[in-house]
Amino acid sequence: MPLHVVEHPLLQDTLARLRDASTPSDEFRALARRASVLLAAEATRDLPTAEGAVHTPLEATRARRLAARVVAVPVLRAGLGLLEGFLDLVPSAQVGYFGLERNEETAVARCYYEKVPRDLGDAVVFLLDPMLATGGSAAMALEGLRARGARRVRFLAVVAAPEGVARLAEAAPDAEVFTAALDRQLNDRKYILPGLGDFGDRLYGT
Ligand code: PRP
Ligand code: URA
Repeated sequence: MPLHVVEHPLLQDTLARLRDASTPSDEFRALARRASVLLAAEATRDLPTAEGAVHTPLEATRARRLAARVVAVPVLRAGLGLLEGFLDLVPSAQVGYFGLERNEETAVARCYYEKVPRDLGDAVVFLLDPMLATGGSAAMALEGLRARGARRVRFLAVVAAPEGVARLAEAAPDAEVFTAALDRQLNDRKYILPGLGDFGDRLYGT
């Protein structure tokens, strides 16, 4: 499974601030949006374009416009932190939602909501979830996308753990992962180390 660790200096600076335990929620939300823009720029790099005519104020010329159906699917709740940044870059994207929640004791995800287009065969789908920990949530979301015909899926995560990457490589070898960091390991509560804590809680101040 292709794993892209995006080393852009602005993304790494943003990640450092997201990791910082003293960053308050309002700043955390703005940083999440910025991280999403930078990850999305990398993950959309090879989308197809089609050339057509355009009139500048001075003359007619040719220009390339995006020629792909893009669907963004944030995983509630933390994935919402990446949605606005993604839409800043791809305002024409359709949006679907998965609501997934890890059990606090077992860290096993359960699905409590889904509203995703059913015909994803011709789309490039961007799954947005900032934390790839055990990979259980991502594997569940990818299974849901596959059931709706998705063939091209890119997963945008702010931080990934080796355990989650390994699980996804097995469950969805054709998906591509874009992340700002591949961290060291999970702790015994399945949180990423060094990580940045609970992304959803930090995003929403809960
Ligand atoms: C977090 C995160 C991922 C999941 C990752 O969500 O946003 O969805 O955990 O963990 P995994 O790889 O072990 O499945 P959480 O379940 O805490 O829900 P929340 O976004 O509503 O806070
Ligand atoms: N979910 C989070 O928000 N953080 C982790 O470290 C793991 C799962």
